[in-house]
Amino acid sequence: MAEIVVVESKQAAGELVALKIRGLIESRADTVLGLATGSTPLPVYAALAQSLRKNPMDVSRVRGFALDEYVGLPEGHPESYRTVITRDVVRPLGLTPTLICVPNGEIETLEHAGADYERAIEAAGGIDLQILGIGRTGHLGFNEPGSSFASLTRVKTLAPKSRADNARFFASPDEVPRHCITQGLGTIRRARHLVLLAFGAEKAAAIAAAVEGPVTASQPGSAIQLHEHVTVVLDPPAAAALANLDYYRYIWANKPAWQGI
Ligand code: GLP
Repeated sequence: MAEIVVVESKQAAGELVALKIRGLIESRADTVLGLATGSTPLPVYAALAQSLRKNPMDVSRVRGFALDEYVGLPEGHPESYRTVITRDVVRPLGLTPTLICVPNGEIETLEHAGADYERAIEAAGGIDLQILGIGRTGHLGFNEPGSSFASLTRVKTLAPKSRADNARFFASPDEVPRHCITQGLGTIRRARHLVLLAFGAEKAAAIAAAVEGPVTASQPGSAIQLHEHVTVVLDPPAAAALANLDYYRYIWANKPAWQGI
């Protein structure tokens, strides 16, 4: 069962996960992180950046793989996930840019971009900790409902709801690409530890389906139930639809401190 942790705020969630990542890097300098975009993981990156400023450590060998990328955005587009990862993660944390990979969304090389990405992850020894958000459609990365639990990095068509949700980042809704390249649910399931974060009432239904619903391709988030090490970090509104919430709170309250997440 996934471990469900309900914290009071996004900031507290960020601090909890940042502490875990610090510990990983302390134990292995070339830790491989799975990096998510979207607004959800920002408190994790902010808390880690702050912790590194206060208490510096060598992160120059940390490697990273982004979850997904839009197809066909020109290089340097402010909303390409390459740009976002550079701005929100690589620079504030002081990571080595050449060690951070993002799926290649260029049209010319699209046919083999998924297989190339899978090879790169494998060559790095796999992902140690994968940070995840969840979309209102229940998507992980850009694995929209119906995605196979065995899927690997490939091109997908964005659901209209996801395009509408992401339109806020673009000048007009028409500018949101229709296609993306995303790690598959099979890729995500190979990571050694999944950390799924969600904040706000608009994520409550997707979280309840992911954690407690049937395991079904119609709810891509439910793929987490097939993984042996998952931590779900929520604020109270995102946790509100969980049927067994009291039990999860009880487990967390009684967890020995040495266990960590
Ligand atoms: C985006 C990303 C996902 C992200 C999700 C939720 O489209 N591709 O990786 O988890 O949608 O976004 P947010 O965190 O902004 O709610």
